[in-house]
Amino acid sequence: MIRNKSLVSINDYNKEDYLAILDLAEQCEARPVSNIMQGKVVATLFFEPSTRTRLSFESAVNRLGGRIIGFSEAGTSSVTKGESLKDTIKTVSNYCDLIVMRHPIEGSARYASEVSGVPVINAGDGANQHPTQTLLDLYSIRKTQKTLDNLVVIMVGDLKYGRTVHSLLQAMSEFNTTFHFVSPDELKMPGEYKMHLENLGLKYYEHKDFTNILPEADIVYMTRVQKERFSDPMDYEKVKNVYVLRSNMLEQTKPNMKILHPLPRVNEITEDVDDNMKAYYFTQALNGVFTRQAIICSILGLDQK
Ligand code: CP
Repeated sequence: MIRNKSLVSINDYNKEDYLAILDLAEQCEARPVSNIMQGKVVATLFFEPSTRTRLSFESAVNRLGGRIIGFSEAGTSSVTKGESLKDTIKTVSNYCDLIVMRHPIEGSARYASEVSGVPVINAGDGANQHPTQTLLDLYSIRKTQKTLDNLVVIMVGDLKYGRTVHSLLQAMSEFNTTFHFVSPDELKMPGEYKMHLENLGLKYYEHKDFTNILPEADIVYMTRVQKERFSDPMDYEKVKNVYVLRSNMLEQTKPNMKILHPLPRVNEITEDVDDNMKAYYFTQALNGVFTRQAIICSILGLDQK
């Protein structure tokens, strides 16, 4: 049951919920503009920078006839005067029907959902979770592959701090996915996620290089090294450009293969890849609008039909 429930972790939803959201997102894509949210107010509270997540949420709400309040940096809020997250959330929940929050501290979204009078959607909490990104990733995968089942997914880059790969691994583990993790030692997929796969009997492989395994992939999920999570800038310098996907590396890949990236990218995909039919990351970002419309309508109990 999604209605009136916060979405903090992708594990708050089950497989049936994912598929219901994706089906509704298809309807939203077919009809992205309506007045279904008339009279509804969504607060977007971004304590960390964002382009896609905040603006696609705001676009989603605007196109459904709702209103947006909020801030794009905490520096313009009373947090600068020392107000606690609890007081901020309790106050803002008086002004809106739904809160969308991004915050640098892991667990902050769960805490916010516990003190809020309205549902909270986690738009990213530190290196922990980014569940709405995962739902738009699932939408993008199903749309391009015509299925979510039995796919080979290669995740490349910062698998330690990248919250999008953590949520995506958990969701895709419902669909008999085979995973390949490509990262330097410093940025390996954390043990808890690998244990999750082991408990389910799913196959995963770890690599330091990805050129040899690209031909096996249905999905290549590139990620940025999360500079903002490193305490020592020298550690970031050592790994920042370790994987770069170039157009000439795509020649032996499967015809159905698609390249996803949650964006923003830095250097990990060269611009010559953008014109390749296998590059899907900008359409993936567009899919965020339809998927977030579906999530909002499901939580607020609004019927798109
Ligand atoms: N994918 C994603 O979360 O992008 P933003 O940081 O721009 O919101």
